[in-house]
Amino acid sequence: MNYITKSQLALYNGQDRDEVWVAYKGKIYDVSQSRLWRDGKHYEHWAGQDLTEELADAPHTERVFEKFVQVGLLK
Ligand code: HEM
Repeated sequence: MNYITKSQLALYNGQDRDEVWVAYKGKIYDVSQSRLWRDGKHYEHWAGQDLTEELADAPHTERVFEKFVQVGLLK
């Protein structure tokens, strides 16, 4: 699996390029196809970073990641 640094991940915030990535529990997912992550924004959260701790505030579980491709591991 591909290792991705925090600063590389930060480029995938939905603003700097078209692809939108989010890190959760060390895994990085490509959520570009999600309408709910358009332009990198998901409710008050921004893509391009590790949102592991923020999931506790969500009205859903980590099962939301099941349909997305894992693009790498957070270094
Ligand atoms: C205030 C916090 C949040 C709210 C209100 C929120 C709300 C929602 C809602 C309503 C959905 C669609 C219904 C569902 O799948 O249950 C959703 C999907 C999703 N959420 Fe959240 N969420 C929050 C935080 C987060 C965080 C912190 C993450 C990442 C760690 C996250 C990742 C996702 C993903 C990947 C999906 C699936 C998108 C799709 O299927 O297109 N959410 N969220």
